[in-house]
Amino acid sequence: MVVEGSLTARRRMVEALAAGGTVRSQSVLDAMRSVPRELFVPRFWAPVVEGGGQEVREWRPMAGDLGAETALLLAYDVDRALALKPPQRYPGTGQVLSTASAPRVVGCMLELLELSPGDRVLEIGTGSGYNAALLRRLVGDTGHVTSVEIDNEVAEEAAAHLADAGCGDVEVVVGDGYHGVPEAAPFDRVVATAGCDDIAPAWLAQLGPGGQCLLPLRHGAWHPVTRAWPDGSGAQARVEAPAFFVPLQGRQSAALPWPGDHRSRHHSEPRLAALPDAVALALSRQHAGVAGADKARWNLAYLLPLEDDRAVSLLALAEGASLAEVHQRGDRVLYSGGEGEQLKDRLVDVAEIWLSLGCPGYGDYTSRLAPVPGRPPGQRGLPRPDGRAGWEQQGRRSWTVERYDFVQTVCLERAA
Ligand SMILES: C[S@@+](CC[C@H](N)C(=O)[O-])C[C@H]1O[C@@H](n2cnc3c(N)ncnc32)[C@H](O)[C@@H]1O
Repeated sequence: MVVEGSLTARRRMVEALAAGGTVRSQSVLDAMRSVPRELFVPRFWAPVVEGGGQEVREWRPMAGDLGAETALLLAYDVDRALALKPPQRYPGTGQVLSTASAPRVVGCMLELLELSPGDRVLEIGTGSGYNAALLRRLVGDTGHVTSVEIDNEVAEEAAAHLADAGCGDVEVVVGDGYHGVPEAAPFDRVVATAGCDDIAPAWLAQLGPGGQCLLPLRHGAWHPVTRAWPDGSGAQARVEAPAFFVPLQGRQSAALPWPGDHRSRHHSEPRLAALPDAVALALSRQHAGVAGADKARWNLAYLLPLEDDRAVSLLALAEGASLAEVHQRGDRVLYSGGEGEQLKDRLVDVAEIWLSLGCPGYGDYTSRLAPVPGRPPGQRGLPRPDGRAGWEQQGRRSWTVERYDFVQTVCLERAA
């Protein structure tokens, strides 16, 4: 009965991912149809939200008492990430740091990885082990999957789940993925499944010829899924898809220019201001269908952290207790606090820069990550260029972001 329910749930999940265009290749669809996700999330934690509000009152373990049907519904909800541990297990952070990523994100990244049978893959962040099992299906018996997990307890459970799912030959390594796994290199792909503040030099060094990394690279408060490939002593990179991830832990946590708050919160009653018509129109032009509406917001959200260090959430600026954010409908700004009005003006300013650049999409930028000259890995202190806003040269607008081991130069070819 449960087996049949699982098959049906997997079929529905795969249909949803294919219909939304997230997954197109048959091999990824087949892999996702073949791996029972519920084996990897026999229990997880869910927030209990205060009546109607956004405040989380407590986190509760969800396990066998859910009933098989509900458990399957949750395990195969394409947009639901499941917390493997509650925030109270991460003292001092107030955050969940280990999840089974939502199937839509998993499918999207697998599609972008373009794996072939025989490939060798390094995954950073084993989590539940579900993605590792899918990677194993895609590379087949002639390939190899190594997965690093920093949390011993999470790694142990993942290894057990992988064995239950018939993927016992996935090598689960406990440690900080920042160092890669040199003994198992070279890899055709390195894929990080936690939000990275930078690419790690070891990931580039451990790639074989033609190899690539795919990583959620922090940008403001979100993590665009970024493809990076070696180029001389650094890398070139391109954003492939929008996403939010839990942050990578361990050595690579950088003092990035942005505060990194996920959520914006008004501390006093917000005021309202209309966005200029042209901006509202640009944000709503792609409103045909939910995906389109999202896309316009993500596109503006890529420019915002380049232009202003105070970017939080997706389309918001914050300073102290002051906040200005573009309303979900995209036609007005909500702002509060003493600096709220100034933040609102700046938000409108950046939206107008976006318009003047021709409403570029997040995929229209190219990046180069260069090692910081004369700075030992992990040491910060490079003098920042004046301000954060970009400069323009020969029809290209550029910005720099100082990360941990690399400085990223983001470029946009200006439309003629
Ligand atoms: C979003 S979860 C991974 C989801 C996983 N791939 C899956 O299929 O369920 C991110 C994981 O990365 C792990 N992690 C965080 N920092 C790490 C690091 N520096 N090295 C290795 N693993 C890390 C976390 O403990 C967490 O389990």
